[in-house]
Amino acid sequence: MALMDIRVYGDPVLETRTKPVEKVDEAIRTLVADMHETMKAAPGIGLAAPQVGVSKRLCLVDLSAGSDPARLMVLINPEIIAEEGYQKEEEGCLSFPGVFGHVERPMKVTVRYTDLDGTEREIEGDDLLARALCHEIDHLEGVVFINRMSPLKRRLLLKAIRKLQRDGQWEHRPGEGAEERA
Ligand code: NI
Repeated sequence: MALMDIRVYGDPVLETRTKPVEKVDEAIRTLVADMHETMKAAPGIGLAAPQVGVSKRLCLVDLSAGSDPARLMVLINPEIIAEEGYQKEEEGCLSFPGVFGHVERPMKVTVRYTDLDGTEREIEGDDLLARALCHEIDHLEGVVFINRMSPLKRRLLLKAIRKLQRDGQWEHRPGEGAEERA
């Protein structure tokens, strides 16, 4: 297994819609193992393939941020097939070091996906899990979370990000505290 580089905002791969995974083969299993390692090291509660530079429709969610291996979810070709309710909570993103902001999400979602054995499954998630699933599936559509914030908040964040970019400080910060990044 190998750690992968986490791409930060500005890398075009993060704003590119991913291609579906056609076959769950050894290459996909290796990619998932490497992404899992990378997500645990970050640490994060979710990681989508574009965040490691791979434009495939695949993401991981682990609300334990690596502390409980049983909670790892591998979602291949996930689609939201139902949603209900509303929540607005603060989110962070591994591709936006130090950036947090409130994002509107459904309170509950149903996601259809393929697992690592190639079996089609459905999962329901509410609250934080719903948020993490929506955040990751957005990544697979090439949508980053600042695009779901208010125009004012987005402008302020982009200004701060551009300054960090100019100062050469816009990069993934491994091991940084907050675990609710995805
Ligand atoms: Ni993210």
